[in-house]
Amino acid sequence: MGSVHGTYDYQVVRQFALMTVVWGIVGMLVGVVIAAQLVWPQLNVGEWFHFGRLRPLHTNAVIFAFGGCALMATSFFVVQRTCHTRLFAPWLASFVFWGWQLVIVLAAITLPLGYTSGKEYAELEWPIDVLITLVWVAYAVVFFGTIAKRRTSHIYVANWFYGAFILTVAVLHLVNSAAVPAGFWKSYSAYAGVQDAMVQWWYGHNAVGFFLTAGFLGMMYYFVPKQAERPVYSYRLSVVHFWALIFTYMWAGPHHLHYTALPDWTQSLGMVFSLILLAPSWGGMINGIMTLSGAWHKLRTDPILKFLITSLSFYGMSTFEGPMMSIKTVNALSHYTDWTVGHVHSGALGWVAMISIGSIYYLIPRLFGQEKMYSIPAISLHFWMSTLGVVLYIASMWIAGVMQGLMWRAINDDGTLTYTFVESVKDSYPFWTIRFVGGLLFLSGMFVMAWNVWKTIAGQKPYNAPVVAPAAAHA
Ligand code: HEM
Ligand code: HEM
Repeated sequence: MGSVHGTYDYQVVRQFALMTVVWGIVGMLVGVVIAAQLVWPQLNVGEWFHFGRLRPLHTNAVIFAFGGCALMATSFFVVQRTCHTRLFAPWLASFVFWGWQLVIVLAAITLPLGYTSGKEYAELEWPIDVLITLVWVAYAVVFFGTIAKRRTSHIYVANWFYGAFILTVAVLHLVNSAAVPAGFWKSYSAYAGVQDAMVQWWYGHNAVGFFLTAGFLGMMYYFVPKQAERPVYSYRLSVVHFWALIFTYMWAGPHHLHYTALPDWTQSLGMVFSLILLAPSWGGMINGIMTLSGAWHKLRTDPILKFLITSLSFYGMSTFEGPMMSIKTVNALSHYTDWTVGHVHSGALGWVAMISIGSIYYLIPRLFGQEKMYSIPAISLHFWMSTLGVVLYIASMWIAGVMQGLMWRAINDDGTLTYTFVESVKDSYPFWTIRFVGGLLFLSGMFVMAWNVWKTIAGQKPYNAPVVAPAAAHA
């Protein structure tokens, strides 16, 4: 043992880890509700409880509440452990926690009431945007402050990914949310027309690249080696992968605006960069999966590792599918259809949710002085419910999406459309029902997790591990 310097600040990690489970359930419950509303339209009741108002509530809750809490919990844990030091300004970390919860609650109130800027994934009105900025600056100060006072000479690669996520999301939020207020709950974008669309999808795609990917890759680089008890497959690949990924993501946004008023060359540029993006994405996936070299047998018995490695397979799948969908001729078929929704959820449920779930299962016992979760078979059950749920979700959306795309473009000999739009809606019902079932299964798995977490921590005292000098152990 090396010299001990107090204990790590796990309090904020505990808070965010537990709220990840809570917001996961809430966000996915809203997902299941809107999935049901598509199957049974009579479930759209009143002004506040219909698809149009609840859909942004779902996306904000799963991305920023569930995903955000998972990222903050793990980044605050990983940065301390890998830098062998306590958090910089723990009181500010506490402000990050409460501030972020306030943002979430305000979103949950204002979105159903219909207050929205109309920009996807950036719907919240300007007063909440200001609060987000304050919280985010505090987050950056705590994270980078901890890096600055590290007791190791190098900065472990997971922190590079978390750091890039924090910095880039700050820039994206500031630029895309620039608006002129017209009252307390109404504002107009600082941009207009096609520029507005371009800024929005530069934001939107990088929200995918940095909020839904870079931070979660940080998670991968810490929790996969830890759970597999193996070093990262290639440190060199991780560095190449990092720079290639962050450089390339920035340019791919226009693939959301194919066949629009955006200049044609910009669309083609977006497509080319999206195709290139396959390489760094797969570099990361391979690095994660190959970390299991020599430990493959652990997959048979360790359901946490199953979550982590399956999430990487979905990451590989969605980052193969994305570049394909960015090809203009493919996008001509996929755009506006459920294919996009299937792609989104193979990334969101398969990759983002599953890697978060695996990481939280790793964290929870350690934050309460326990060796492992209360029930390992329950984690296994959760794993199979999630996997089956995602497969039902995405397979049904692929079929529905391709069917819709083909029906909309089918033309008779005389040049008239073969199908009316409503026929394509009618034919989509069976697939929407399967998606609802898949979503329900995934959500039910989250309840199994909540039970298991409760059983693990009930009656236990919060635990903060001692800080150990770098020479004594690695992270
Ligand atoms: C139980 C799990 C879930 C269910 C049942 C579900 C269901 C849905 C439904 C029905 C939609 C609307 C699709 C449409 O407009 O036709 C949707 C959209 C969306 N969901 Fe989920 N969802 C779930 C989990 C998640 C998670 C965990 C994430 C992110 C981490 C996520 C991210 C999104 C996004 C980004 C959209 C918008 C997609 C787009 O605009 O193309 N969802 N979800
Ligand atoms: C190499 C990586 C990727 C590329 C090139 C890519 C490309 C694409 C393309 C071409 C679309 C369809 C745009 C349209 O027709 O409107 C799309 C939509 C989307 N993708 Fe990806 N994708 C990638 C990875 C991912 C991952 C890993 C996730 C989630 C974690 C994700 C989340 C989304 C979302 C949320 C949308 C829907 C946006 C919207 O219209 O609201 N993507 N992506």
